[in-house]
Amino acid sequence: MAAIMAAVIYITAVIGVTSAVTYTNHTVGGPPPSGWYFNSSSNISSTNYSSWAASQTFNLGDYLIFNTNTNQTVIQTYNSNTYNNCTSDDSSDNNTLVFNSGATKFGQPLTISVPLTKVGPNYFFSDAEDGVQCQRGMRFDIKVGQGLGLPPSLNQPPPPLYSAPPMAEPPPAFQGSGGGQGESMYNGVEGLTDGIFGVAVIWAGLIVLGLGFVF
Ligand SMILES: *[C@@H]1O[C@H](CO)[C@@H](O)[C@H](O)[C@H]1NC(C)=O
Ligand SMILES: *[C@@H]1O[C@H](CO)[C@@H](O)[C@H](O)[C@H]1NC(C)=O
Ligand SMILES: *[C@@H]1O[C@H](CO)[C@@H](O)[C@H](O)[C@H]1NC(C)=O
Ligand SMILES: *[C@@H]1O[C@H](CO)[C@@H](O)[C@H](O)[C@H]1NC(C)=O
Ligand SMILES: *[C@@H]1O[C@H](CO)[C@@H](O)[C@H](O)[C@H]1NC(C)=O
Ligand SMILES: *[C@@H]1O[C@H](CO)[C@@H](O)[C@H](O)[C@H]1NC(C)=O
Ligand SMILES: *[C@@H]1O[C@H](CO)[C@@H](O)[C@H](O)[C@H]1NC(C)=O
Repeated sequence: MAAIMAAVIYITAVIGVTSAVTYTNHTVGGPPPSGWYFNSSSNISSTNYSSWAASQTFNLGDYLIFNTNTNQTVIQTYNSNTYNNCTSDDSSDNNTLVFNSGATKFGQPLTISVPLTKVGPNYFFSDAEDGVQCQRGMRFDIKVGQGLGLPPSLNQPPPPLYSAPPMAEPPPAFQGSGGGQGESMYNGVEGLTDGIFGVAVIWAGLIVLGLGFVF
């Protein structure tokens, strides 16, 4: 009986955790007045962004919201060399995205929203002041999980159903801002179906366990 109770509690916990997954907007550095700022008096980032990032869980379809101004830049890269080098100079690298607001005035306030569209390591930094900002704390790396998969708003239309074969391995998430986004949508639906199937299997197991106990 204790085992069954334990199983029920476990399953309830699993379902609770599963249904808590949702898309999240992460305000970089924490709530205002924190933001994405370099303090030029102290010559260091205004917040420890690595510590902030370590406090968050990131999934596909989430956004990073950078509250900042034109004194800082926002660079996203999947290339750890670019990140470690604190430079986006290698413009032929299509693993690196430079978020440009089009603002021209120095110090003008900005809000930059960056969607997370690729599972795995994602790196962020400011390359302003020839990389000094990045070297002095304007940088962090995160690990993006599958979560619910990409929402339709960040996706190309899903592939036609007849062309979706059963797959042993999920296809890789799409690369950068280019093509292939439809596959990720397919991933999301597949992940959801797997989840429902998994819960059904657990319940079936529980029923068998209960019958075993009765007889
Ligand atoms: C998250 O940010 C994006 C981009 O700014 C926006 O479209 C979306 O509505 C926001 N979602 C929530 C829940 O605030
Ligand atoms: C910047 O650093 C200086 C010196 O440490 C400090 O007095 C000031 O409050 C900081 N400014 C911000 C906006 O954090
Ligand atoms: C800030 O630190 C860098 C070294 O990381 C140094 O080259 C630069 O001169 C410093 N700037 C100021 C204003 O202290
Ligand atoms: C930020 O915090 C981490 C621990 O979370 C620490 O290892 C690191 O040295 C800190 N960075 C700065 C610039 O203080
Ligand atoms: C790092 O930056 C230096 C100077 O900008 C450049 O010569 C070098 O190729 C870069 N390395 C990588 C791995 O990007
Ligand atoms: C932008 O940077 C310049 C030079 O470091 C500084 O004088 C100015 O106060 C900064 N503006 C804002 C809004 O942080
Ligand atoms: C990256 O760029 C190269 C050539 O510049 C191109 O062949 C390749 O398809 C691009 N990759 C992606 C994912 O866009």
